[in-house]
Parts: sequence; structure tokens; C-alpha cells
Amino acid sequence: MSTTSPRIGRPAERIEARIKVTGQARYAADVVLPGLAHAAYVGSAIACGRVLAVDTARAEQAGGVLLILTHDNRGPLGDLPNGDGTGLTPDPRPPLADDRIDYRGQIVAMVVAESPEQAAHAASLVEVRYEPAPFVVDIDDGAGTRLSDVPRRGDCAAALRAAPVTIDVLYSTPIQHPCPLEPHATVAHWVDHDLVVYDSTQWVLGDQAVLARAFGLSNERVRVLAPFVGGSFGSKVFTAAHTLLAAVAARRLERPVKSVLRRSEVLTTVGPRAATRQRIQLAAERDGRLIALRHHTRSHCATERDVADRDPFYEPTSGITRVLYACPNYEAVHDVVPLHLAKPGWMRAPGEATGLWALEGALDELACESGLDPLALRMRNHSSRDAHTGKPYASEHLRECYERGAERFGWSRREPRPRSMRDGDAWIGWGMATAAHPGNRDPASVRVRLDRERGGVHVTVATAGIDLGTGLYTALAVVVADALDLPGERVTVELGDTRLPPAPMTGGSNLTASVAPAALAACTRLRRRLLAFRRAPDESADWAELLDRAGLGDIEAIGTTDARPPGERHAHHSFGAQFVEVRVVPELGRIRVTRVVGVFDVGQVVDATTTRSQLLGGVLFGVGQALLEQQVHDPVHALPVHADLAGYLLPCHADVPDIDVEWLDAVPDVTFNAIGCRGAGEIGITGVAPAIASAVHHAIGVRLRDLPLTPDRLL
Ligand code: MOS
Repeated sequence: MSTTSPRIGRPAERIEARIKVTGQARYAADVVLPGLAHAAYVGSAIACGRVLAVDTARAEQAGGVLLILTHDNRGPLGDLPNGDGTGLTPDPRPPLADDRIDYRGQIVAMVVAESPEQAAHAASLVEVRYEPAPFVVDIDDGAGTRLSDVPRRGDCAAALRAAPVTIDVLYSTPIQHPCPLEPHATVAHWVDHDLVVYDSTQWVLGDQAVLARAFGLSNERVRVLAPFVGGSFGSKVFTAAHTLLAAVAARRLERPVKSVLRRSEVLTTVGPRAATRQRIQLAAERDGRLIALRHHTRSHCATERDVADRDPFYEPTSGITRVLYACPNYEAVHDVVPLHLAKPGWMRAPGEATGLWALEGALDELACESGLDPLALRMRNHSSRDAHTGKPYASEHLRECYERGAERFGWSRREPRPRSMRDGDAWIGWGMATAAHPGNRDPASVRVRLDRERGGVHVTVATAGIDLGTGLYTALAVVVADALDLPGERVTVELGDTRLPPAPMTGGSNLTASVAPAALAACTRLRRRLLAFRRAPDESADWAELLDRAGLGDIEAIGTTDARPPGERHAHHSFGAQFVEVRVVPELGRIRVTRVVGVFDVGQVVDATTTRSQLLGGVLFGVGQALLEQQVHDPVHALPVHADLAGYLLPCHADVPDIDVEWLDAVPDVTFNAIGCRGAGEIGITGVAPAIASAVHHAIGVRLRDLPLTPDRLL
């Protein structure tokens, strides 16, 4: 794809901006249907044990109550699909399956009433008796189980013994929560024995598969719609328990049921980013060249049953540490530690955001130990191929990111000694880290239809894929307007409906790279068919005129993106370099991030505006990860200490530094897809936290290895 295109890679206006800011965009919780009933939940008051009895007598007498579901009367639900690629649920057991409690807040009763207030009031009247059992909610208190998969190359142990320079350090990350602005919400509605669900999800087809299996229906009889989703960050990949229960209740009541989780329910029942404890051992030559890297991670998972019954969830920290740097000897071992908490899940850049915290931190320590510049150390260990598989990257420009970022930041002026720059009370520090995220792409189809309308044609682009607020609507409009050479106003995009051509979950920064090339392929087909009606090959293409000549009122084509072949010759990866300035007042324990520069190679950018937003948002997510975010559970009651957005701290405007993001131009990854784009949704976060900690070390000479970098760590 030529970057001289008037549209691809330029800033576009968000095509759904107007309906969003005027409140016309309908999110799941906005759906109103005749006869709508409302759900509220009773969450378990213990973290482990059994429900002895649920007394609903008082609640049933409360005003407006229509139905109370518990494990005694929930009725049958089929087994849920998991791990077969068709859909995901956080728990292989359907909700309200039995009397067993695995975590505090687990749904033990659902109340449905005429209004949300009545449902909430009645839920408060449900009395539950429990038989509590001992529980563990702190990863440092739990016993680990070693995963059998141990990626390795060479002989790490021998190399670590023989090396002239070694580093052996322990880094940690806390439980963090995706906290999407829009809480998880579902409206379930049965129409002539078929199920229609409006859900806040990353994957309408995943929801469809789970619901169809649960209710013993064919997939076609379940329709899921999610035209607008207000953020997710990984937390809406799984079909949530409350979504299944809303469908159960709606069928029982023969009325539509709306279920909107309260913020405290999101923060207790939706899986967080798992806590990690990571030991990094590095062996290097005196010039900084890596000889060995050993990465030992402990991360938490759900209860013992998660370990025993099937693959437990693990935070995939070693996915990135094995590929990033040239290093002949490598080994990654992973222990999972079951805790009595909601099963953890994916959160933006799962594995990269945690694994790079440890690896990039350890590399900064190696740079200090070896007397090398941190950037020079990265350059020295640069790999132009996937270091683990040995496959060359089809398009890789990390060195340019380093160079360009260093130049924009002014890195060459860095005095290596800590406590070398001061501004009033504060010490100034500069740090940097590599950012990285794999290029992901999945099978997808997109339909493009041209309709003859007064004064020309109108184009409708449609796919089941979902825009989480990230910009897919606009990206597809840009690609299609460009391919058909039409003004943007003539393009409509329809997303997030199982009736539209199938698309993968929106996850792993995959969707633009999956559906944008499919849209382009559909346009190419349409063009070819219509251009056959030209009178001469040099006749300019007027689609309305050609449709008229063809005697057609409309024409459509489907374009597809295929699955990646197993034996791909090349690897596809995005990279970046992130540079950070902090101001630290050690006496106050205060760390402020004052400047961030990031330069990224994400392949061909489709829309500059939303890509920039993704990268800026990613950097800010990294600032939150570094300085503020943690979910701590009270060891006595197993409650999260912070179960709302007043207590679970996220960056606010005053925390936002001067952020400068840039991407390399003219670097399309054309063997990855026809547009050459790789997605930019997650990479922005990945190097921020380690760059901040390195900057703090540079500012005051104190090495911090445990996130978040709260003031107490400096005092
Ligand atoms: Mo995500 S954590 O790519 O849904």
C-alpha cells in the first residue's frame, strides 16, 4: 500500500464521533425494550467454602421482585465451551452451578425486579448462610505448581556459571484491574425461542458460541449485538457469568432482562491482571552482549481446580522475553499459584506489560553494572529475527525507533551518574526501555456493498468485529474510501453483530490487521466487477455510472483474511523505544513523570488520529501501571481494599505528562497483510513502567523493583 495515498495513514475524523458525543450511540446498558426487567446480584461474603442455605423469603416479599435465582433453582445449563477457540468463559462451571464458593463476590443469587432499585433493595434482603473454609488471597502466601511447558534454548545454567557479568534480580507486579469505563452490561431477550443479546463484549461470536452451548441451541438461533463498547482492555473477551444468568432469567420470565454490573462487582468478579513475581538472571560479556537469560515467573491463577481440571490461566510473561534480544541461552519456567480470587484474565498487553517490566529493569541494572549506556546496551543485543524461533522479521525497524526516539528526547545529553540533574526540590532522571508487541492477525471477513443513490453511490462496510472505542469504524471507512476513491461521507460502517460476516475477537491488537485487509479485498473484487463495464480502459471510474450501465441498483462483495499458515517463513512483530523523564522528591516519596517520548514501528498506520490516541492512551496506561494501580485484598475478609474508582487509582489529568508519540513512516509489513498494518492498541504501554523505574534510578540512585512505585517505596 502506497503511503502516498491521500487517506491511508493520514489523520481522519472519527466517523462515529458525532453519534457518540450526542448520546445516540447505543451501548448495551442503553438498550430499552418493552417489559424490561432488571437484575441485581448477591455476591458471596466468604472467599472459600460452601453455601449452606439461601433464604429468599424476605426478598421475595419486597416490591417489584419477579424472580430470584440461586443454585437451588437455576435450572439446567449445558457445558460451556472453553479452549476450543469458539468462545471463552471465566469458569468452566456455569454460574450458580452448586454450593461451592471459590472467591469473595462470586454470584450466589440473582434478583430480578421491575426496576434496578427494586432489584438492588431485594438483593440486600437475601440471607445466605455459609460454611467458610481457609483461603489464600496473597500470591506470596500460596504454593506454586510448575507448568510443564519450559521454553528453552542452549544451556542457561552453564552459561550463568561461566559468564563474566551476571545479574540476578526479583521484580514484582501487583494485581491490576482493566477498569473499562463502561461496566460489563447485558440485555437478554428471547424472541420466539431464539435468544437476542446486547452485550458489552470483545467478541460477539464467542458470546454466541457460549450461549448456544449453554442453552442447547444452534448458533444461528443466538444473535449477539455490540455495536459500541466503552473500553475493555481484555476484560470482555470472556462471556461473563451475569450474561448467562440474564439469559436464564429472561427465558424464565418471558421478559427481557437487563444486567449491569456495579463498579464494585466489576472489580471483584471480573478477572484482573494476575500478580507476578519474576526472577531474572542475566549473563553477559563485559561489553554487554547477552549470553544467557533465565526468566522464572510465579503468577496467580484461580483455585486449585483451575490447576487440576484444565490449563490454568497464567500471565504469559515469557512470551516477549524469549523473542526480544539476541541471546544464545534462554530458559523460562513458570509456576502458577492458585488464589481464592476471581480467575485472572487478559489485561492490555498481557505478558508484555509484565514481562518487560522485569526484563527491561534487569537490563538497566546490567547497563549500570557494566558501565554502559542503557540505549547502547539494547543496540548491542538487537535481534533482527525472533530470537527464539530464529525466523527473520519480515519488517523490523527497531534501531530506527531507538535512534529517532533518542534524538527527539535528547538522550545524548544524559549524564550517566545518578543525582546529576536537579530542578528545585526535585532530582531529574532519564530512563528508557524497549516497547514490543507481536503482530497478530486472525481469519476475518468483511462485506462491502455499493448502493446506487441520488447523486452517486453509498458504500456499506460490514463485519462482526468490534470497535472497543479504539477506532475500527474509522479505520475501515478510511480503507474503503481509499480503495473506492470515494469521499468519507459516502461510507457507512456496521460492526458488532453476529449476523454480519464473521470476525475474530478484538484482542491482541489484531483487529485492524485482520479486517482492514479483508475490506480492501472486498473493494478490489467490487472494482474489478464494475470496471468491466467501462467503455475503454482509460475511462475514469464513476461507480454510479458503471452500476447504471450494469443495470444494477447495488452490488456487494465479501473479502477475507485467511488464517496464518503454520509454516510462515517470517515473524511479524511491532517494536518501539520509549524515553521517560521523571522528577523525584525523595523526602516526599514523590515521583512525577514529566516527559515521555515514544517512537514506534507498527507497520503501516491506517488512521493517524486513532493510532495516535491508542499510543497516547497506552503510555498513560503505563503511567498508571507504574505509579498508581494495584488491587490489594484484605487478608482477613478477602475483600479488595479498593472496589471503586475512588480507591483504585488511575492517572487523572494532573498525572498526564508531556507525551510525544511518533511512528515510523513508510514501513508497511506487506508480507503480513496487503495493507501492511500490525495494530497499535497495546504496544504503547509496554516499555513505560520500566523506563520510569530506570529514570527514578537515574534521578536518585534508588532501584525500585516492585510495582506500583508508590511514595512509601522511597521513604
Ligand atoms: Mo486484549 S488484553 O488484547 O483484549
